[in-house]
Amino acid sequence: KMADVLSNRNSCVVITSPRDANEASGNTKQPASNEVVVLREPPAHIRAEFQGKLGRDMIEIRVLCVSLNFRDIVHKNYLKPSNLPFIPCSDCVGLVTSIGSDVKSFSIGDRACPLFFPYWKDRRPDTAKTLRGALGGKNVLEGGMKQGVLRTRFRCRAQEAVKIPTYLTDAEASTLPCAGVTAWSALMGYETLPDDINLSQSTPNANHKRLEGKVVLVQGTGAVSMFALQFAKALGARVIATSSSNVKLQIAKKMGADLCINYKTIKKWGKQASLATIKKFGRTALNAGADLIVEVGGAGTISESLDAVRIGGVISMVGNLSGRSGEIKRLDRIFYKAVRIQGVVVGHKKGFLDMLQVMESHRINPVVGQIYPISKAAKAFSGDSTGATYKAKVMMGNRVIRVSDSLKGRRMDSRVESRVRSML
Ligand SMILES: NC(=O)c1ccc[n+]([C@@H]2O[C@H](COP(=O)([O-])OP(=O)(O)OC[C@H]3O[C@@H](n4cnc5c(N)ncnc54)[C@H](OP(=O)(O)O)[C@@H]3O)[C@@H](O)[C@H]2O)c1
Repeated sequence: KMADVLSNRNSCVVITSPRDANEASGNTKQPASNEVVVLREPPAHIRAEFQGKLGRDMIEIRVLCVSLNFRDIVHKNYLKPSNLPFIPCSDCVGLVTSIGSDVKSFSIGDRACPLFFPYWKDRRPDTAKTLRGALGGKNVLEGGMKQGVLRTRFRCRAQEAVKIPTYLTDAEASTLPCAGVTAWSALMGYETLPDDINLSQSTPNANHKRLEGKVVLVQGTGAVSMFALQFAKALGARVIATSSSNVKLQIAKKMGADLCINYKTIKKWGKQASLATIKKFGRTALNAGADLIVEVGGAGTISESLDAVRIGGVISMVGNLSGRSGEIKRLDRIFYKAVRIQGVVVGHKKGFLDMLQVMESHRINPVVGQIYPISKAAKAFSGDSTGATYKAKVMMGNRVIRVSDSLKGRRMDSRVESRVRSML
């Protein structure tokens, strides 16, 4: 039962092989689908993490909410038996419950999010080492697995976490480390912050002006795109939003999108977006198109993006929702239009802190589409909304699992839920 799970300080969610399938087949072939299971006690190698004294530079975090990313759902089915059981997920917020003797950056009771890449402090990555230790999955470049955060508590070095502003609810805050930071990097790049930036200053960084008056196109209404829409609007850009659903586009409009295109009914949405910048934003035929595209579709959408982007524009390559491989039509447009294609892999700590500063000053609330109790974690992974304690009328933004409660967070979440419900 939920109550049992929450009363156990050590519970966690793991991905396992389907036991019955393994036993029945008796072979080593990877089962078609791994299972999501809630455990009262984590596996031994996780329990061992808590046996020693907390290191001097470490903090212990009691997890409040975890958010699911597309990656977590994909990993679930592709994890090999040798990696199982495995604790998934990278995005969470929790309460700091213990601090090591040298830790100055946190106090007990602070809310903190872990970094997706614990060692990446700043600037463009130049070695695989910068991107090592990605939470809750396989490291793309180095291989190797790092256990994730879908559990009651975990430990990390204090410098691998950031403090979260109080105006955000637990569910909202849990969406920041991967989805939020990725959207931020897609818009701001990795090298936008000067070395001497004072991250505690309240005035906006001059680099934020880079989007003022620009046209940004966001694809679909998933987690990354909803962040990108809100960040781009806050920083003075005009936003073109696409979606397969007119209802979602209406909501995107309420959230500030200046122009909406249904990519299901308008197959040539790239051309349509480019023309719309002339009609709607006063561009001429010579500089029509989006200045920056947050490309989450991948193989199935990049050809349209090359129509939508303006000469000299940027395509931030973030995802592959429509596939990893495929034909790119008229590849030559990349050089004829002098387009810059920028790969984005989440982001660094400095970007995370910079993003929080802008979010707080503009009071940006992440979009949470569904919240599940931890006991229904498997349903959250399968997208079965019958297990959700909160679901918006349409699923946009992030899906969140509530691991444990902070009373204040719970109260705030219910306020936000009713506010969001009225919009979605
Ligand atoms: N590179 C990185 O560091 C990084 C970090 C985070 C995520 N990602 C990747 O970015 C992608 C998006 O992640 P997410 O968490 O935002 O996913 P998500 O929340 O699962 O996004 C789902 C939404 O994407 C939209 N979508 C699906 N297929 C589409 C298509 N062909 N064209 C346009 N929109 C489409 C749909 O929006 P509508 O329902 O409105 O049509 C759908 O509701 C994924 O591929 C993910 O792996 C990469």
